[in-house]
Amino acid sequence: MFSIKELQEIINTKIASEKIGREPFSLYDPINYTLEAGGKRIRPTLVLMACNLFLEDIEQAINPAIGLEIFHNFTLLHDDIMDHADIRRGNPTVHKKWNENTAILSGDAMFIKAYEYFLDCESPSFREVLKVFNETALEVCEGQQYDMEFENREFVSEDEYLQMIRLKTSVLLAAALKIGALIGGAGQQDAELLYEFGINLGLAFQLQDDLLDVYGDVHVFGKKPGGDIVANKKTFMLIKALEISSYNERKTLKTLLSDKQIKNEKKIQAVTQIYNKINIKQIVEGRIEQFNQEAIAFLEKVNVDKDKKFELRMLAEKLIKRIS
Ligand code: IPE
Ligand code: IPE
Ligand code: MG
Ligand code: MG
Ligand code: MG
Repeated sequence: MFSIKELQEIINTKIASEKIGREPFSLYDPINYTLEAGGKRIRPTLVLMACNLFLEDIEQAINPAIGLEIFHNFTLLHDDIMDHADIRRGNPTVHKKWNENTAILSGDAMFIKAYEYFLDCESPSFREVLKVFNETALEVCEGQQYDMEFENREFVSEDEYLQMIRLKTSVLLAAALKIGALIGGAGQQDAELLYEFGINLGLAFQLQDDLLDVYGDVHVFGKKPGGDIVANKKTFMLIKALEISSYNERKTLKTLLSDKQIKNEKKIQAVTQIYNKINIKQIVEGRIEQFNQEAIAFLEKVNVDKDKKFELRMLAEKLIKRIS
Protein backbone atom coordinates (compact mmCIF):
# COMPACT_ATOMS: atom_id res chain seq x y z
CA MET A 1 0.00 0.00 0.00
CA PHE A 2 1.22 3.50 -0.88
CA SER A 3 1.58 6.31 1.66
CA ILE A 4 -0.11 9.66 0.99
CA LYS A 5 3.31 11.14 0.39
CA GLU A 6 4.15 8.57 -2.26
CA LEU A 7 0.82 9.11 -3.99
CA GLN A 8 1.27 12.86 -4.02
CA GLU A 9 4.74 12.38 -5.45
CA ILE A 10 3.26 10.30 -8.29
CA ILE A 11 0.65 13.00 -8.96
CA ASN A 12 3.08 15.91 -8.83
CA THR A 13 5.64 14.21 -11.05
CA LYS A 14 3.00 13.31 -13.61
CA ILE A 15 1.50 16.81 -13.71
CA ALA A 16 4.95 18.43 -13.95
CA SER A 17 5.88 16.20 -16.89
CA GLU A 18 2.73 17.10 -18.79
CA LYS A 19 3.57 20.75 -19.29
CA ILE A 20 2.05 21.85 -22.59
CA GLY A 21 4.59 23.39 -24.96
CA ARG A 22 2.32 24.00 -27.91
CA GLU A 23 1.17 27.08 -29.79
CA PRO A 24 -0.68 29.29 -29.29
CA PHE A 25 1.22 29.87 -26.06
CA SER A 26 -1.37 32.42 -25.02
CA LEU A 27 -3.84 29.52 -24.72
CA TYR A 28 -1.54 27.03 -22.98
CA ASP A 29 0.64 29.28 -20.78
CA PRO A 30 -2.26 30.05 -18.41
CA ILE A 31 -2.91 26.31 -18.11
CA ASN A 32 0.71 25.58 -17.23
CA TYR A 33 0.70 28.55 -14.87
CA THR A 34 -2.37 27.22 -13.06
CA LEU A 35 -1.18 23.63 -12.79
CA GLU A 36 2.33 24.64 -11.72
CA ALA A 37 0.89 26.64 -8.82
CA GLY A 38 0.02 23.32 -7.24
CA GLY A 39 -2.63 23.55 -4.62
CA LYS A 40 -3.33 20.71 -2.25
CA ARG A 41 -4.11 18.15 -5.00
CA ILE A 42 -6.76 16.61 -2.78
CA ARG A 43 -8.94 15.18 -5.49
CA PRO A 44 -6.32 13.11 -7.34
CA THR A 45 -4.96 11.96 -3.99
CA LEU A 46 -8.45 10.74 -3.07
CA VAL A 47 -8.76 8.87 -6.39
CA LEU A 48 -5.50 7.02 -5.81
CA MET A 49 -6.14 6.36 -2.13
CA ALA A 50 -9.59 4.94 -2.81
CA CYS A 51 -8.23 2.73 -5.59
CA ASN A 52 -5.39 1.56 -3.38
CA LEU A 53 -7.85 0.41 -0.71
CA PHE A 54 -8.90 -2.37 -3.05
CA LEU A 55 -5.98 -2.84 -5.44
CA GLU A 56 -2.21 -2.80 -5.09
CA ASP A 57 -1.67 -1.71 -8.69
CA ILE A 58 -2.96 1.86 -8.99
CA GLU A 59 -1.70 2.41 -12.55
CA GLN A 60 -5.14 2.62 -14.18
CA ALA A 61 -6.28 5.24 -11.68
CA ILE A 62 -3.47 7.71 -12.39
CA ASN A 63 -4.82 9.28 -15.59
CA PRO A 64 -8.37 9.72 -14.29
CA ALA A 65 -6.84 11.21 -11.12
CA ILE A 66 -4.94 13.77 -13.19
CA GLY A 67 -8.06 14.38 -15.31
CA LEU A 68 -10.05 15.19 -12.21
CA GLU A 69 -7.39 17.60 -10.94
CA ILE A 70 -7.32 19.38 -14.31
CA PHE A 71 -11.11 19.59 -14.25
CA HIS A 72 -10.95 21.08 -10.73
CA ASN A 73 -8.38 23.64 -11.88
CA PHE A 74 -10.59 24.53 -14.84
CA THR A 75 -13.50 25.25 -12.49
CA LEU A 76 -11.23 27.58 -10.52
CA LEU A 77 -10.39 29.67 -13.61
CA HIS A 78 -14.07 30.26 -14.30
CA ASP A 79 -14.97 30.55 -10.60
CA ASP A 80 -12.43 33.34 -10.15
CA ILE A 81 -14.00 35.32 -12.97
CA MET A 82 -17.46 34.77 -11.49
CA ASP A 83 -16.28 35.70 -7.98
CA HIS A 84 -14.09 38.63 -9.06
CA ALA A 85 -11.18 37.02 -7.22
CA ASP A 86 -7.73 38.53 -7.76
CA ILE A 87 -5.52 36.03 -5.97
CA ARG A 88 -5.35 32.24 -5.91
CA ARG A 89 -2.65 30.08 -4.39
CA GLY A 90 -0.83 33.29 -3.59
CA ASN A 91 -0.62 34.30 -7.26
CA PRO A 92 -2.67 36.63 -9.45
CA THR A 93 -5.64 34.77 -10.93
CA VAL A 94 -5.55 34.00 -14.66
CA HIS A 95 -8.15 36.62 -15.57
CA LYS A 96 -6.06 39.23 -13.72
CA LYS A 97 -2.67 38.18 -15.08
CA TRP A 98 -4.04 37.83 -18.61
CA ASN A 99 -7.71 38.74 -19.14
CA GLU A 100 -11.21 37.29 -18.80
CA ASN A 101 -11.46 35.91 -22.31
CA THR A 102 -8.16 34.08 -21.84
CA ALA A 103 -9.38 32.59 -18.57
CA ILE A 104 -12.59 31.43 -20.25
CA LEU A 105 -10.86 29.79 -23.22
CA SER A 106 -7.91 28.30 -21.33
CA GLY A 107 -10.50 26.94 -18.89
CA ASP A 108 -12.45 25.36 -21.75
CA ALA A 109 -9.25 23.78 -23.07
CA MET A 110 -8.57 22.35 -19.61
CA PHE A 111 -12.00 20.74 -19.53
CA ILE A 112 -11.19 19.02 -22.83
CA LYS A 113 -7.75 18.01 -21.52
CA ALA A 114 -9.46 16.42 -18.53
CA TYR A 115 -11.39 14.11 -20.88
CA GLU A 116 -8.19 13.25 -22.71
CA TYR A 117 -6.79 11.89 -19.45
CA PHE A 118 -9.96 9.98 -18.66
CA LEU A 119 -9.81 8.37 -22.10
CA ASP A 120 -6.39 6.97 -21.22
CA CYS A 121 -7.77 4.52 -18.71
CA GLU A 122 -8.05 0.85 -19.47
CA SER A 123 -10.05 -0.20 -16.47
CA PRO A 124 -13.03 -2.53 -17.05
CA SER A 125 -15.10 0.05 -15.18
CA PHE A 126 -14.16 2.79 -17.64
CA ARG A 127 -17.71 3.49 -18.86
CA GLU A 128 -19.06 3.73 -15.35
CA VAL A 129 -16.17 5.97 -14.33
CA LEU A 130 -16.86 8.32 -17.22
CA LYS A 131 -20.55 8.39 -16.33
CA VAL A 132 -19.73 9.39 -12.75
CA PHE A 133 -17.41 12.11 -14.06
CA ASN A 134 -20.04 13.50 -16.45
CA GLU A 135 -22.79 13.57 -13.86
CA THR A 136 -20.46 15.21 -11.39
CA ALA A 137 -19.22 17.88 -13.81
CA LEU A 138 -22.82 18.84 -14.57
CA GLU A 139 -23.66 18.98 -10.86
CA VAL A 140 -20.72 21.31 -10.25
CA CYS A 141 -22.20 23.67 -12.88
CA GLU A 142 -25.57 23.43 -11.10
CA GLY A 143 -23.96 24.27 -7.77
CA GLN A 144 -22.10 27.22 -9.24
CA GLN A 145 -25.31 28.51 -10.78
CA TYR A 146 -27.10 28.35 -7.40
CA ASP A 147 -24.11 30.03 -5.76
CA MET A 148 -24.45 32.97 -8.16
CA GLU A 149 -28.24 33.13 -7.93
CA PHE A 150 -28.09 33.22 -4.14
CA GLU A 151 -25.95 36.39 -4.29
CA ASN A 152 -29.06 38.24 -5.42
CA ARG A 153 -31.52 36.60 -3.06
CA GLU A 154 -32.35 38.14 0.24
CA PHE A 155 -33.16 34.90 2.02
CA VAL A 156 -31.49 31.53 1.54
CA SER A 157 -32.24 28.70 3.95
CA GLU A 158 -29.57 26.54 5.55
CA ASP A 159 -30.90 23.55 3.59
CA GLU A 160 -30.66 25.42 0.32
CA TYR A 161 -27.12 26.44 1.18
CA LEU A 162 -26.12 22.86 2.02
CA GLN A 163 -27.62 21.60 -1.22
CA MET A 164 -25.69 24.29 -3.13
CA ILE A 165 -22.32 23.41 -1.58
CA ARG A 166 -23.05 19.71 -1.98
CA LEU A 167 -23.26 20.40 -5.72
CA LYS A 168 -20.46 22.90 -6.19
CA THR A 169 -17.89 21.22 -3.93
CA SER A 170 -18.84 17.91 -2.29
CA VAL A 171 -19.75 15.88 -5.35
CA LEU A 172 -16.27 16.30 -6.83
CA LEU A 173 -14.54 14.99 -3.71
CA ALA A 174 -17.12 12.20 -3.53
CA ALA A 175 -16.67 11.35 -7.21
CA ALA A 176 -12.91 11.22 -6.78
CA LEU A 177 -13.34 8.53 -4.14
CA LYS A 178 -15.97 6.63 -6.08
CA ILE A 179 -13.96 6.68 -9.31
CA GLY A 180 -10.88 5.41 -7.49
CA ALA A 181 -12.92 2.70 -5.80
CA LEU A 182 -14.51 1.57 -9.09
CA ILE A 183 -11.14 1.35 -10.81
CA GLY A 184 -9.86 -0.59 -7.81
CA GLY A 185 -12.68 -3.09 -8.34
CA ALA A 186 -14.70 -2.22 -5.24
CA GLY A 187 -18.26 -3.47 -4.94
CA GLN A 188 -21.13 -1.04 -5.44
CA GLN A 189 -21.80 -0.77 -1.73
CA ASP A 190 -18.25 0.21 -0.81
CA ALA A 191 -18.08 2.65 -3.72
CA GLU A 192 -21.28 4.32 -2.43
CA LEU A 193 -20.03 4.42 1.15
CA LEU A 194 -16.86 6.15 0.00
CA TYR A 195 -18.99 8.53 -2.07
CA GLU A 196 -20.98 9.48 1.04
CA PHE A 197 -17.76 9.85 3.01
CA GLY A 198 -16.68 12.33 0.34
CA ILE A 199 -20.00 14.20 0.40
CA ASN A 200 -19.77 14.86 4.14
CA LEU A 201 -16.09 15.63 3.95
CA GLY A 202 -16.90 18.10 1.18
CA LEU A 203 -19.56 19.83 3.26
CA ALA A 204 -17.09 20.24 6.12
CA PHE A 205 -14.46 21.38 3.63
CA GLN A 206 -16.66 24.09 2.07
CA LEU A 207 -17.78 25.35 5.49
CA GLN A 208 -14.12 25.63 6.36
CA ASP A 209 -13.44 27.43 3.09
CA ASP A 210 -16.23 29.92 3.86
CA LEU A 211 -14.78 30.46 7.32
CA LEU A 212 -11.30 31.04 5.92
CA ASP A 213 -12.69 33.52 3.43
CA VAL A 214 -13.32 35.73 6.46
CA TYR A 215 -10.62 34.68 8.90
CA GLY A 216 -7.87 33.17 6.72
CA ASP A 217 -4.46 34.71 6.24
CA VAL A 218 -3.76 35.41 2.57
CA HIS A 219 -0.20 34.07 2.97
CA VAL A 220 -1.45 30.71 4.22
CA PHE A 221 -4.82 30.49 2.47
CA GLY A 222 -3.54 31.95 -0.82
CA LYS A 223 -6.80 33.83 -1.45
CA LYS A 224 -7.72 37.39 -0.58
CA PRO A 225 -10.09 37.36 2.40
CA GLY A 226 -13.46 39.09 2.32
CA GLY A 227 -14.45 38.21 -1.23
CA ASP A 228 -17.57 36.35 -0.11
CA ILE A 229 -18.71 39.32 1.99
CA VAL A 230 -18.20 41.76 -0.87
CA ALA A 231 -20.14 39.52 -3.28
CA ASN A 232 -23.05 38.97 -0.85
CA LYS A 233 -22.38 35.23 -0.97
CA LYS A 234 -24.92 33.38 1.10
CA THR A 235 -22.38 31.53 3.16
CA PHE A 236 -23.24 29.44 6.19
CA MET A 237 -21.95 32.31 8.32
CA LEU A 238 -24.18 34.91 6.77
CA ILE A 239 -27.21 32.63 6.91
CA LYS A 240 -26.55 31.85 10.58
CA ALA A 241 -25.82 35.49 11.39
CA LEU A 242 -29.13 36.58 9.88
CA GLU A 243 -30.81 33.87 11.94
CA ILE A 244 -29.29 34.39 15.38
CA SER A 245 -28.15 38.00 15.60
CA SER A 246 -30.11 40.61 17.51
CA TYR A 247 -32.75 42.80 15.84
CA ASN A 248 -30.31 45.69 15.48
CA GLU A 249 -27.44 43.58 14.16
CA ARG A 250 -29.76 41.97 11.65
CA LYS A 251 -30.90 45.40 10.50
CA THR A 252 -27.29 46.51 10.10
CA LEU A 253 -26.44 43.35 8.18
CA LYS A 254 -29.35 43.83 5.79
CA THR A 255 -28.38 47.46 5.22
CA LEU A 256 -24.81 46.39 4.48
CA LEU A 257 -26.02 43.75 2.01
CA SER A 258 -28.07 46.25 0.03
CA ASP A 259 -25.59 49.13 0.19
CA LYS A 260 -24.18 49.57 -3.32
CA GLN A 261 -22.00 52.58 -2.47
CA ILE A 262 -20.07 51.20 0.49
CA LYS A 263 -16.34 50.58 0.04
CA ASN A 264 -15.30 46.92 0.06
CA GLU A 265 -12.95 47.22 3.03
CA LYS A 266 -15.57 48.96 5.11
CA LYS A 267 -18.19 46.34 4.30
CA ILE A 268 -15.81 43.50 5.15
CA GLN A 269 -14.92 45.12 8.42
CA ALA A 270 -18.53 45.82 9.43
CA VAL A 271 -19.81 42.32 8.60
CA THR A 272 -16.82 40.70 10.30
CA GLN A 273 -17.51 42.74 13.39
CA ILE A 274 -21.01 41.27 13.62
CA TYR A 275 -19.64 37.77 12.99
CA ASN A 276 -17.17 38.27 15.84
CA LYS A 277 -19.86 39.52 18.15
CA ILE A 278 -22.06 36.47 17.69
CA ASN A 279 -19.10 34.10 17.82
CA ILE A 280 -19.76 32.73 14.37
CA LYS A 281 -16.39 30.99 14.19
CA GLN A 282 -17.32 28.66 17.03
CA ILE A 283 -20.69 27.85 15.50
CA VAL A 284 -19.19 26.99 12.13
CA GLU A 285 -16.43 24.92 13.71
CA GLY A 286 -19.05 22.91 15.56
CA ARG A 287 -20.88 22.19 12.30
CA ILE A 288 -17.61 21.28 10.57
CA GLU A 289 -16.90 18.77 13.31
CA GLN A 290 -20.40 17.32 12.90
CA PHE A 291 -19.93 16.75 9.17
CA ASN A 292 -16.50 15.34 9.82
CA GLN A 293 -17.97 12.81 12.25
CA GLU A 294 -20.65 11.88 9.74
CA ALA A 295 -17.98 11.43 7.10
CA ILE A 296 -15.92 9.14 9.33
CA ALA A 297 -19.01 7.05 10.12
CA PHE A 298 -19.37 6.25 6.39
CA LEU A 299 -15.68 5.45 6.07
CA GLU A 300 -15.89 3.05 8.98
CA LYS A 301 -18.55 1.02 7.20
CA VAL A 302 -16.37 0.43 4.15
CA ASN A 303 -15.57 -3.25 4.05
CA VAL A 304 -11.79 -2.96 4.17
CA ASP A 305 -9.25 -3.50 6.99
CA LYS A 306 -9.25 -0.65 9.48
CA ASP A 307 -5.50 -0.20 9.02
CA LYS A 308 -5.91 0.43 5.32
CA LYS A 309 -8.43 3.19 5.99
CA PHE A 310 -6.22 4.97 8.49
CA GLU A 311 -4.58 7.32 6.00
CA LEU A 312 -7.94 8.41 4.55
CA ARG A 313 -9.08 9.22 8.03
CA MET A 314 -5.95 11.24 8.67
CA LEU A 315 -6.38 13.10 5.41
CA ALA A 316 -9.94 14.01 6.43
CA GLU A 317 -8.72 15.30 9.77
CA LYS A 318 -5.94 17.32 8.17
CA LEU A 319 -8.15 18.75 5.48
CA ILE A 320 -10.52 20.52 7.80
CA LYS A 321 -7.81 21.78 10.09
CA ARG A 322 -6.04 23.81 7.45
CA ILE A 323 -6.21 27.01 9.47
CA SER A 324 -3.09 26.13 11.37
C1 IPE B 1 -10.89 25.31 -3.81
O1 IPE B 1 -10.49 24.00 -3.69
C2 IPE B 1 -12.31 25.35 -4.18
C3 IPE B 1 -13.20 24.81 -3.15
C4 IPE B 1 -13.95 23.80 -3.39
C5 IPE B 1 -13.26 25.44 -1.84
P1 IPE B 1 -9.13 23.58 -2.99
O2 IPE B 1 -9.04 24.22 -1.65
O3 IPE B 1 -9.00 22.11 -3.04
O4 IPE B 1 -8.06 24.27 -3.95
P2 IPE B 1 -6.55 23.90 -4.23
O5 IPE B 1 -6.55 23.03 -5.43
O6 IPE B 1 -5.96 23.23 -3.04
O7 IPE B 1 -5.90 25.22 -4.52
C1 IPE C 1 -15.70 26.73 -4.89
O1 IPE C 1 -16.37 27.72 -4.23
C2 IPE C 1 -16.52 25.99 -5.88
C3 IPE C 1 -15.86 25.72 -7.16
C4 IPE C 1 -14.74 26.24 -7.56
C5 IPE C 1 -16.52 24.83 -8.06
P1 IPE C 1 -15.58 29.06 -3.83
O2 IPE C 1 -15.86 30.13 -4.81
O3 IPE C 1 -15.85 29.34 -2.41
O4 IPE C 1 -14.04 28.60 -3.98
P2 IPE C 1 -12.80 29.54 -3.73
O5 IPE C 1 -12.91 30.06 -2.33
O6 IPE C 1 -12.86 30.63 -4.75
O7 IPE C 1 -11.63 28.63 -3.91
MG1 MG D 1 -17.36 30.58 -6.17
MG1 MG E 1 -14.44 31.56 -5.58
MG1 MG F 1 -14.41 30.17 -1.04
